[in-house]
Amino acid sequence: MAYNLLKGKRGIITGALDSNSIAWKVAEKAHEEGAQFVLTNAPIAMRMGEINGLAEKTNSKIVPADATNVEELTHLFTESQQILGGKIDFVLHSIGMSVNIRKKIPYTELNYDYYQKGIDVSALSLHKMLAVAMKLDAINEWGSVVALTYMAAQRTFPFYTDMADIKAMLESISRSFGYHYGVTKKVRINTVSQSPTKTTAGTGIKGFGDFFDYAQSIAPLGNASAEDCANYCITLFSDLTRMVTMQNLFHDGGFSNTGVSDLVMNKIGITE
Ligand SMILES: NC(=O)c1ccc[n+]([C@@H]2O[C@H](COP(=O)([O-])OP(=O)(O)OC[C@H]3O[C@@H](n4cnc5c(N)ncnc54)[C@H](O)[C@@H]3O)[C@@H](O)[C@H]2O)c1
Repeated sequence: MAYNLLKGKRGIITGALDSNSIAWKVAEKAHEEGAQFVLTNAPIAMRMGEINGLAEKTNSKIVPADATNVEELTHLFTESQQILGGKIDFVLHSIGMSVNIRKKIPYTELNYDYYQKGIDVSALSLHKMLAVAMKLDAINEWGSVVALTYMAAQRTFPFYTDMADIKAMLESISRSFGYHYGVTKKVRINTVSQSPTKTTAGTGIKGFGDFFDYAQSIAPLGNASAEDCANYCITLFSDLTRMVTMQNLFHDGGFSNTGVSDLVMNKIGITE
């Protein structure tokens, strides 16, 4: 059911790689809720071509941009305002990549070139986007920026290796920039800390399937799906949450506040 929550709003949605991507679901929901937006991804990801189908379905244009490249981001924000006919109201940062994770390198033996690449792609890209948008004055007052993160920023999940540190940085950038963009332009910036989700980035993590089942057994509501995450992002882009900024918002079915569940106790045989 749609509520027209984003009617008349203009957005930029990063990170839709295929139909499993969280950004893909956000684009579908934003379209249902009446938004117009530009889709973007790294030029290399475009080669797979799946994004064209999403653009057609949501009546949107695609502007490629490597999120680590300030020139390309400047082009993205300039071009998007032209395409959409005005300033931007919402931005989804849905970008994550760790070469160390891809290559299954343990945390204590990280490759530092890969580590820096991960920081640039997955955390600094948010700072770069916001700095470009601010310089161009491309985001409307009360605009909303959401970046996706994971709870390994607060608690240790060994398999998440360097991405844990990188997500901590992403969340810090969101808070710090949230202050500066808030006082100057009333632009809101939040991170959504999502449950493990079966996407390309998610399933690339060693032992992801087992951990997905573990989280499912702990969270009282179970794991939040990509579609649930999209619904939550839509509320954050809407005017219904206009005083929410600089927050890290857990969207995980209660996982983050649960110590242990009866289900897990039963599974490991520790029951009365
Ligand atoms: N899947 C999970 O379990 C999970 C859980 C919590 C948070 N997240 C976060 O959600 C976000 C989206 O990931 P996803 O799970 O939908 O996976 P995904 O693989 O579908 O999306 C990641 C996207 O990042 C893009 N990207 C990589 N390098 C880029 C660059 N240089 N410039 C622009 N885009 C680039 C990829 O092309 C891809 O579209 C990520 O930040 C991820 O860390 C995922």
